[in-house]
Amino acid sequence: MFEKDLLAGKVILVTGGGTGLGRVMALRFAELGARVAVLGRRPEPLTEVVQAIEAKGGEAMAASADVRDAARVDAAVEDVVTRFGGIQVLVNNAAGNFLALTETLSPNAFNAVVGIVLNGTFHCTAAVGKRLIAQGTGGCILNIVATYAWTGAAYVVPSVCAKAGVLAMTRALAVEWGRYRIRLNAIAPGPFPTEGAWSRLMLPGMEEEGKRRNPTGRFGDPPELANLAAYLASDAASYINGECVTMDGGEWLMGQSFNALTQLPPEQFQALAEALRPRKSGP
Ligand code: COA
Repeated sequence: MFEKDLLAGKVILVTGGGTGLGRVMALRFAELGARVAVLGRRPEPLTEVVQAIEAKGGEAMAASADVRDAARVDAAVEDVVTRFGGIQVLVNNAAGNFLALTETLSPNAFNAVVGIVLNGTFHCTAAVGKRLIAQGTGGCILNIVATYAWTGAAYVVPSVCAKAGVLAMTRALAVEWGRYRIRLNAIAPGPFPTEGAWSRLMLPGMEEEGKRRNPTGRFGDPPELANLAAYLASDAASYINGECVTMDGGEWLMGQSFNALTQLPPEQFQALAEALRPRKSGP
C-alpha cells in the first residue's frame, strides 16, 4: 500500500532495534527508503540487522547503548547524526518486562523496568529532541506503549506505570514541541508473537486462550505493526500529533461485561436472548 520511497530522505533511530518488533520495524523502514540506526545493549543482534539491511541495498548502522544511561544515549545519537548528517525520526521501542506478584518485587526490580521503559524513553527523546530543535527540520517521535497504560494490568505493575508515563510524555511533548514541527505519537500493540515477549510473558498453555480472548481470534503479525509505524513516521501522517493508535484486534475492549458472550456460538446466544425476552400477554 506504500510508495517504495515513502521514507526516503529520513534517518530513523529505532531503540531495541536488534530483536523483535524493533527489528521488524527497522527492516521495513529501510525497505521504504529510510536510513536506519538500531540502538541496543548487545552488539550481535544489531550487527545482524545492519547486515540484513545492507544486503538489500539499504543503509544502516548500529548504535551501542543501554537506554538507561543518558550519557551513552547522547553519544550514540551524536554518532548517528555524524554518520548520516542528521536525524528525523526516533522510535522508542526498547522495553523491559516480566511477570511477578507485585508484593514480591524489590525496589531494584521496579527500577529495572521503569529505568528502561520510562527513563530510557526520556533519555532518547531528550537526546533526539534537542537535535531536532537545533536542526529546525521538524521530526517525529513514536513511542511503543501498551493498552494497559490506561487500563492497568495485574502482574506487570512496573511496566504499567512506565508505559502510562510514556503515554503522558507523548501527549505533553506533542503540545510543547508542536512549535518545532516535532510530532509525538504512540502505538499500543496488543499481542504480537516475538521471542522476547513470549519468553517473558506467555505462560505455558495460555496461547490458545489468548487467541480466544481476541475479537479477531488471532495474534498480530509483526509486519502489520511495522506498516503502522511506517505510516505514522511518514509525512503522510504530518497532521497526526499526540495520538495513540491501538493495534490489538480489539483485545482491550473485551473486558466490557457483555463481550464475554461472544464466546458462545451465535445460535446459543440467540436462544439465551430469546429466553430473556418478555412474552406478550393476552390475545
Ligand atoms: N521477577 C522478579 N524480579 C525480577 C525478575 C523477575 N522475573 N527479573 C529480574 N528481577 C529483579 C532482579 O531480581 C533484580 O532485583 P534485585 O537486585 O533486588 O534482586 C532486578 O530485577 C534487576 O534485575 P537484573 O537482572 O539485574 O536486571 P537487568 O537490568 O539485567 O535486566 C530486566 C532488566 C529484568 C527488565 C530484563 O528482563 C531485561 O533486560 N529485559 C529486556 C528485554 C525485555 O524485557 N523485553 C520485553 C519484551 S515484552
